[in-house]
Parts: sequence; structure tokens; C-alpha cells
Amino acid sequence: MHLSLSLSAVFSTGALLLGRAGVHTSRAGTPTAASIAVPEASQLAQLARMTTLSIDTGDLDIIKAYGATGLITDATTNPLFVSQAGLSGDARYIAFVDSAIAYAKKNAKGTEAVLELAMDRLAVELGLEIVKLVPGYVSTEVDIRASFDTEESIARARRIIAMYEAAGVPRTRVLVKLAGTWEGIQAAKVLEKEGITCNITLIFGFIQAVAAAQAGARLISPFPGRIKDWAGANGGKKAYEPSEDPGVKSVSRMYAYYKKFGHENTICMPASWRPSRSTPADKIAEHATDEIVALAGVDRMTIPPSILDQLAATQEPLLRQLTPAAASAACADSIVGDGDISEAEFRFALNADVCATTKMAEGINMFVAETLKLEAALRGKL
Ligand SMILES: *[C@@H]1O[C@H](CO)[C@@H](O)[C@H](O)[C@H]1NC(C)=O
Repeated sequence: MHLSLSLSAVFSTGALLLGRAGVHTSRAGTPTAASIAVPEASQLAQLARMTTLSIDTGDLDIIKAYGATGLITDATTNPLFVSQAGLSGDARYIAFVDSAIAYAKKNAKGTEAVLELAMDRLAVELGLEIVKLVPGYVSTEVDIRASFDTEESIARARRIIAMYEAAGVPRTRVLVKLAGTWEGIQAAKVLEKEGITCNITLIFGFIQAVAAAQAGARLISPFPGRIKDWAGANGGKKAYEPSEDPGVKSVSRMYAYYKKFGHENTICMPASWRPSRSTPADKIAEHATDEIVALAGVDRMTIPPSILDQLAATQEPLLRQLTPAAASAACADSIVGDGDISEAEFRFALNADVCATTKMAEGINMFVAETLKLEAALRGKL
């Protein structure tokens, strides 16, 4: 999605990038060569020393180039990337689609079952390439349409992991992505007990972060940029000092709660960035890294190539803002739901958080639209 400069930025440029060259390879100025120079003094190198970094693109060439710097640990697929790959005319991606369909025809019966398996398999095909390019996790999305169905999410996640393991990739390298709904979080609770690690995504509110950690999820992906968008559109300011940016404050609060209440097994990994000090429409490039700089030190971050490029080109000192001890000491929250929040408490708190309720719905709808687009294209090839 990612939603990173966000999902919506990539989303809106996606169509342009789909053309001949593949997913994002036609992006002007983004290196496709196997090496990118990242000076030690750059903000990117400084950031990588305090926060583990993931790249936000479905473009295998860009992942490879950044992977080779040694500064990027993880990568992800999502419905948008899979869809862009699946719909692109690039020969490599066409081969993934063909092999996903062949796999599905061999392993499922009936058009709908074949289609469903082909969709999952296509995401796994991309993921199998990505694990070769980065040393850490690759995330793979459980069908977003299962976001309100715990049993279906569990079944789909198990099947995704089975496909990775059959291809020789252990479950410890994979995160299954589930939306931060009550049902998605309950699926994670079951899956984590089986050693299937989960990335709870579409996190816009504190209560989602708390419930995900209490369920034992390995990782959450909050979206500070889209939280700022929501504030700006709903009576907040359009521009903030980075430390006052609502997205930055929200992620800092989640991080602090985790450190205070011992959720050290749940990684806080924001993605989706906006310029705090200007509106995204201003396109003031120098502000694009505001939220990242303000959250430096958080466990992990997912960053799109354009902002990685910018961090690599900037040499100003980068100060660590978040540390476990200081965040924990400053955390004003008390433990939520006695450490085991109920469904009623979760839903009540989520409902009261209009930003989280609205942005999660919007995010799910956006992914559903991508999924349907890809599904229609695959159906035409069965
Ligand atoms: C988890 O999912 C988010 C949202 O889709 C993504 O940005 C992030 O990179 C993923 N994390 C990892 C480690 O793959």
C-alpha cells in the first residue's frame, strides 16, 4: 500500500508505473542498478543504526538494489503491489501469474477455489522472490475480504505458510498480514501459538495496538501519515511541528505503552509518511522525512524508495527520539483491560476513536478494490 508516502501516493501513481516497464521500474530517478551509494554520514545510514528498516515497494529491482546496501532488512507484498505486478506487462511478473495459475489448477478444484488459490499463490510467488533479496521478514497479506472472519483468516494464513514451507522458506521468515480488526487480531492470537508470526496492519488507533500486543502479534504497522491526514481533514491543523504531529504522537504512545507493559515481543513498525510541516499537496520535499525523523529509534520502519533516496542524500545529524527506557518512564497510560481486553471493550474503544474507525474502513475498502481488480484479471486467464 504503502501506504507510505503512502499508500495513497503510490496508489495514485500506480497507474502510470504499470506501463511497460513493470511495477515501479519506470519511476524517474530511482536506481535500478544493483548498487546504491549510501554514505555513512547520511541520515539513512544513521537511521539504520537505530531502527530496523523495511522497503515499501513491490518492485523487485528496487528491493534488490536497496537490499544490497545492507541497510534494508525486510520487505512486504500487499494487494496493491501484487495487483500491480499481476497486471503489469513485465515478463517476469507475467511468469509469476502463469505459474500461480498453473499451481492453483493443479491444487484446487472448481473455478472459484482455483481463483482463490491463484490469488494467494501469486502473493507467495512474489514473496519467494523477495526472501532472496532481503535477510529479514517478508510479509504476505491474507485476503483482505476475510478481515471480519477469524476462521477464514486462520485457514488462509496456514495455507500461505504451507506454500512457503513447501518451497523451503521457514515460517520464521514470513509475516502474515491481517487487518487490525477484532477478528484479525483473534486470528493472530491462534496463529502465533503455531509459530505463524503476524503483521497486524491498518493500525490507526491506540486500542488496536494494545489488542494486537495482548494477542501476542509479532508486529504492528501503524500509519502515522494517514492519521495526520485524518486530523487535517477533521478540524485539526494542516501543518504541525513534527513532535506535535498527531501521527507521530499516536505512534509514540503505542511504542511507549509496549515498553512500559513488557510487550517486547511485539514490534512497533510504522509505515505511511506525510510531511508534518506542510500539506502533502505542497510537495515540499524537504519536509517529507519529518515524521520519520521525529520517530527515529522506533523498533522498525517501512519506508518507500523515494524517501529512502532522500534520506540517503541528506547528511544532517539524526537524533534518536525514542528509546525504550525514556518512553516507558514517560508513558501516562495504565494497563488496558487488565492485560486481556474483551471484545466489547475493544469495539467500544475503537468506535470512540473516529479516526481509527474511519481510516481502517477506508484502508480495507481500498485493498478490497485492488483485490477485485486483480481477481478479475486472473479470472480472465483461467
Ligand atoms: C507489515 O505490513 C505493513 C503494512 O502493509 C508493511 O508496510 C510492513 O513493511 C510490513 N512489515 C514487514 C516486516 O514486512
